[in-house]
Amino acid sequence: MFREAIRSACLANETEVVRNLVVASELDEGDRQAISERAAELVQAVRSEGKVGTMGSFLAEYGLSTGEGVALMCLAEAMLRVPDTLTVDELIRDKITPHDWAAHIGDSGSILVNASTWGLMLTGRILDDDDSAGVVGTLHALVRRLGEPMIRRAVGEAMAEMGSQFVLGRNIEEAIARGEGMTGKGYTYSFDMLGEAARTEKDALRYHAAYAKAIASIAEHVTADDIRDNPGISVKLSALHPRYEQNQRDTTLPVISDRLMTLARAAKEAEIGFNIDAEEADRLELSLDVIEMVLSDPSLADWDGFGIVVQAYGRRAMPTLEFLYDLAGRLDRRIMVRLVKGAYWDMEIKRAQVLGLTDYPVFTRKAHSDVSYLACARRLLGLTDLIYPQFATHNAHSVAAILHIARDDRNGFEFQRLHGMGEAIHDIVKQAEKSRCRIYAPVGAHRDLLAYLVRRLLENGANSSFVNQIIDLSVSPEEIARDPSAFAEQTGFAPHSAIPRPVDIFAPRRHSRGWDITHPADLAGIEAGRAPFAAPYQWSARPVSPAAGNRGMVRDVMNPARPDEVVGTVVEASAELARNAVSVAIEAKLGWGMRAAAARARILRKIADAYEANANEIFALVAREAGKTLDDGVAEVREAVDFLRYYADEAERLGDEGDARGVIVCISPWNFPLAIFTGQIAAALAAGNSVVAKPAEQTPLIAARAVAWMLEAGVPEGVIQLLPGSGTEVGAPLTADPRIAGVCFTGSTEVAKIIDRQLANTAPEAMLIAETGGINAMIVDSTALLEQATRDIVRAAFQSAGQRCSALRVLYVQNDVELKLMEMLEGAMDALVTGDPWEISTDVGPIIDAEAHETISGYIEAQASAGMVVKQLPVP
Ligand code: FAD
Ligand code: 2OP
Repeated sequence: MFREAIRSACLANETEVVRNLVVASELDEGDRQAISERAAELVQAVRSEGKVGTMGSFLAEYGLSTGEGVALMCLAEAMLRVPDTLTVDELIRDKITPHDWAAHIGDSGSILVNASTWGLMLTGRILDDDDSAGVVGTLHALVRRLGEPMIRRAVGEAMAEMGSQFVLGRNIEEAIARGEGMTGKGYTYSFDMLGEAARTEKDALRYHAAYAKAIASIAEHVTADDIRDNPGISVKLSALHPRYEQNQRDTTLPVISDRLMTLARAAKEAEIGFNIDAEEADRLELSLDVIEMVLSDPSLADWDGFGIVVQAYGRRAMPTLEFLYDLAGRLDRRIMVRLVKGAYWDMEIKRAQVLGLTDYPVFTRKAHSDVSYLACARRLLGLTDLIYPQFATHNAHSVAAILHIARDDRNGFEFQRLHGMGEAIHDIVKQAEKSRCRIYAPVGAHRDLLAYLVRRLLENGANSSFVNQIIDLSVSPEEIARDPSAFAEQTGFAPHSAIPRPVDIFAPRRHSRGWDITHPADLAGIEAGRAPFAAPYQWSARPVSPAAGNRGMVRDVMNPARPDEVVGTVVEASAELARNAVSVAIEAKLGWGMRAAAARARILRKIADAYEANANEIFALVAREAGKTLDDGVAEVREAVDFLRYYADEAERLGDEGDARGVIVCISPWNFPLAIFTGQIAAALAAGNSVVAKPAEQTPLIAARAVAWMLEAGVPEGVIQLLPGSGTEVGAPLTADPRIAGVCFTGSTEVAKIIDRQLANTAPEAMLIAETGGINAMIVDSTALLEQATRDIVRAAFQSAGQRCSALRVLYVQNDVELKLMEMLEGAMDALVTGDPWEISTDVGPIIDAEAHETISGYIEAQASAGMVVKQLPVP
C-alpha cells in the first residue's frame, strides 16, 4: 500500500502536493514569524563572523550565470584529471582566454578569490592576441616572460583548491586524522568513499572493497556505546553494481543486496552508522527494494545504525517517509533517516524533458522544496519511536524551523552538513543549542571526485541556493530568511512559470508523449498493452492503392530475434502496379494540394494522436518485426510523432503559399521503420504532394499499420499509397517514372547514387532528397570523464545493435588514457545484455537479417585475421 502511494506520487500534481505539504508542516503565523526571525539572526551571525568559506566566496563571485563561472566549472571538471601538460595548455586556452576576468577584480572580500581572479585574468590575457598597454599590458608581458608553466600552476592551484575544499582526505586514515579537530569539538562524521556510477564489475568490486576497508578503519575509532556518537559511513548503491537500473532489476537486485548486506553486517559489527545515499529519482523504487531486502535480514536485528536518505525536493518524499516508518515497524527495527533537499535537481528536470514525461518527479520552485523539507521534518520528529532523524541542510531557515518544531528536544535528532560547507552556521547552532551535528566527509582520490564536485559546484553556484545567497550582501537577511510557505501560498502553490511541463517545452507544439520505462507503473502499462500483440499474434500487409495491377510475391515476415516466429504476411506489389500508382497519385494530388494548409495540418496531427494511442501495438510490432528494444521502440514512436507535429506546424507557417510539387516517391529503411517512413511522408503531405511509399522489404508490416492510421485520420485514398516490395521490383519502376516530382530516400549511398543518375535521365526536373549512411567518429581526450565517455560510447555503438546511420564506428582516444578507457569499455561491454528485444532487460537485440549478419561476420573475420578484434561477446 505504501509502495503504491510512492508510485502514484511520482509525477503528481505539484500544486496539490505543495498545498498538502504546507498543511502538513503545521506552522501557524506565529511559528512562521518566529522561525524567520531566528533564521535572519543566524544569517546575520554568520555574516558578522565573516566565515563564509573560501569556496562560497569563489562561487559567489563566479556564479553559474556568468560566462566565467561556466568556464571555471568546465575547467575544474576537466583539468584535475588531465595527465599531460600539452592538453592542459590547450584546455586553458580553450576555457580561459575568451572571458572577461578583469571585470571581477576587487569585487570580492576574499583574498583567495582575488588571487585566483588575478591569476585567471593574467592567463586570460596572456593567451589573448590583443596586446593591450597599461598595467595589464605590463603584467601581460611579465607573465609571458615567465611562460606557460606558471599559468598552468596558477590555474592548477585554483582548481586543486576547489577540489580539496570538498575532500577530507585521500584515504580513510588521512581523513580520520584530519577530522580529529572537529571530533574534538564534538562533531561526528559520516565518511563517504568517493566513487559512484560504476560502469564495470571491476570498478564495482573496487568500490565495494573500499567501503569494506573504510568500515574496518572506522571501527578502530569507535569509542561510544551510543551509535549516534560514533562515526559512520555513507554508501552509494550506484557504486556497487554497473547495472543499477530498473530494467536490470531481476539480475541486479540480488547481487546489489548481497554486496550491501556484507557491508551492513560489518557496520553493525563495528557499531557504526551505515547510510544509503539517495541518488537519481528513477532509482528510488529500486533502492527501496534493495533497502527492504537488506533490512529484513535477521542478522541486522537489534542494530539502530541502518540509515536511509530521503530527498525533500521529490514529490514522493512524504509517502517515502510513511513507507520507511511502516517498514521499520513491520521489521521491528529502529532506523536513521537523513532528510536532504536533493542534489540532482538539474538532471531530473532535463531528464523529464528529454523523456517527454507528463510532469517532473521534483518540485519546480525552490520554495516548494523548502516547504516539503519542513513538512517532512515535522513528520519525522513525530516518528522518533522508530526513526532517528538526521537533518542535512546548510540553510538557516530550515535549521531554525527544525529547532522550532523540535521544541525542547535537542537529543532526539541530529543536524548534518557537508565537509567544506555550512561550517559557520552549524558552529553557531551547536554552541547555542547543544545540538548534535555530523559532517558528511568525502574521502578519496581526485579521479573519483568529479561527479561529486560538479554537484557541489552546481549547488554553490546557483543563485537560488542558500550558500550562494548568504555571501551576496545585496540580499538582506530577512529576504534570505523569508518563509517559504507564505511564498508558496502567495503564488498559489503554482509550479514555476519559467519551467513548463516536459510535454509543453515546445509549446505551442505538443511534445511527443514519453514513457519512462524505468518507472514500474509505465512499464506495467506497456507490458499489459502490448501483451495481446505477442506471438502468435500476426499482422498482414498488402499494397494500399486504388490502382489496378497484378499482385507480386506473398511471403512471411519473420522475427529477426526468433527466426522461426512468423510476425505476419506481406503481399508485395508488382512493377505494373507501381506504374499505375503514379497515375493515381497524379490525380489525387490535385484535390489534396487545393486543400487549405491548415486542413492538411489537422490531419497530420490526427495521425500523430493515432500513433500515440496505438503505441503499445507499435512497441510490440517493431520489437518483433525490426528487432527493436523497448527503449528504441519508445524513441521510434516519439520521433514519428514529432515529425508529424513539426510538419503540421510547418505547413501552417508556410500557409497556402507552400509549393506542392506533385508525386513524391518515398523510400525508407528498416532501421527506423516507422519514424523515417513517417517523416518522409509527412513532409511531402504537409506541402500538398501525393505520396507513393515503398517501405523496406524487411519491415512492411509496421508500414501497413502506419498507412492504415493515416487513412483513418483523413488522408484521402490515392494521396498516400503503399507499395511493399523489393528495390528492383517496385523501387526501380517508381524512380524511373518520368512523371514523378521527386524522391525522398534514406538508405545506402550506393543506392542514392543510382537514383540520382536515374532521375537525371528520366525526370531531370525532379528533386532528390537523400539521407545516407556515413562513418561516425568520436574523439575522447583526457579531459573526458571516462565513466561518461564509456556510457556514451556503448550507447552510440551498440544501441539498436549498431544498426543506425548515426552509430559510432570509429573511436579516437588520446594515448594517455587509452588503456584505462579500453579497460572500462570492455568491462561495460561485459555488462551488456544481448537477447530478445521483447525482454525489458535486453540492451542489444538482433541483426536485422541473414544478409546483414553475413556482411558483419565477414568484416569481423577480416579484422580478426589481421589481429584487430579487441573484444567479442558471446551471443545467444
Ligand atoms: P538550499 O539552498 O536551501 O536548498 C537547495 C535545494 O533547493 C536543492 O535541493 C535544490 O535542488 C533545490 N532547488 C533549487 N532550485 C529549485 C527549484 N527551482 N525547484 C525545486 N527545488 C529547487 N543529496 C542527495 O541527493 N542525496 C544524498 O544522499 C545527500 N546527502 C547529503 C548529506 C549531507 C550531510 C548534506 C548536508 C547534504 C546531502 N545531500 C544529498 C545534498 C543536499 O541535497 C544538498 O546539499 C541540499 O539540497 C542543500 O540544501 P540546503 O537546505 O542546504 O540548501
Ligand atoms: C552527493 O553525493 C552529498 O550525497 C550527496 O552529492
